[in-house]
Amino acid sequence: MKKVVVLSGAGMSAESGLRTFREMGGLWEEYDVYEVASPGGWERDRQMVLRFYNERRKQLLEALPNPGHFGLAKLEKDFDVQIITQNIDDLHERAGSTSILHLHGELRKSRSTTDPDLIYDIDGWELNEGDLCEKGSQLRPHVVWFGEAVPAIQEAAEIVSTADLFVIIGTSMNVYPAAGLIDHVPETAPIYVIDPNEVSIPGYSRIKVIRKKAGEGIDDLINEFKNE
Ligand code: APR
Repeated sequence: MKKVVVLSGAGMSAESGLRTFREMGGLWEEYDVYEVASPGGWERDRQMVLRFYNERRKQLLEALPNPGHFGLAKLEKDFDVQIITQNIDDLHERAGSTSILHLHGELRKSRSTTDPDLIYDIDGWELNEGDLCEKGSQLRPHVVWFGEAVPAIQEAAEIVSTADLFVIIGTSMNVYPAAGLIDHVPETAPIYVIDPNEVSIPGYSRIKVIRKKAGEGIDDLINEFKNE
């Protein structure tokens, strides 16, 4: 089986009703990223940070995977599909994809502020001040904030370097190190981009662009793959 490696971003879940970050009406237009998604923001105002992620989690519990997520799950019939997602939602999982690496963490999990190995499922949508790990420290969202290291990046780079086909879906490719994963794609592997808007990826003339939303674009991709 050929190996398809997918790098997904917020646009993947847009048709599920979850907002992207950098588009008009995106989350970073309403919120200051350094206030709600950085270690400094956490130091300054934990309540605000917890509220921001509680709101995201509440919306996620009401959201459903969209045809894009389901299309990728179905692709596993014919390909060895490995998803690397920048998304902290669990919609790939809920659509039935079986191999998913979360680069930026998981919204439905919490982590100890003193021992990063202590990770817990969050029951429901709320994580509050006073919610403690088993060692008595405050729990924080299990997400990677701006200014923090991305622990899974090395594993992701290794996966990308084994791709026969590489697919980028719904990411503006603005955030590093995730965006730099494209440099690990083998020269022989075709690269596809599914996005309704232009994504600027300098120097990659071999990219095949499917300028559509994820839901529809996946169908085009599957047709293209029939020729691979
Ligand atoms: N289908 C596919 N792509 C879409 C759709 C859709 N229905 N709707 C929008 N898009 C595209 C946009 O055109 C844009 O290129 O999704 C992309 C979203 O880009 P960003 O908002 O920048 O999100 P992303 O690239 O995932 O952000 C990366 O930044 O804020 C941090 O940690 C956060 O993981 C996130 C990271």
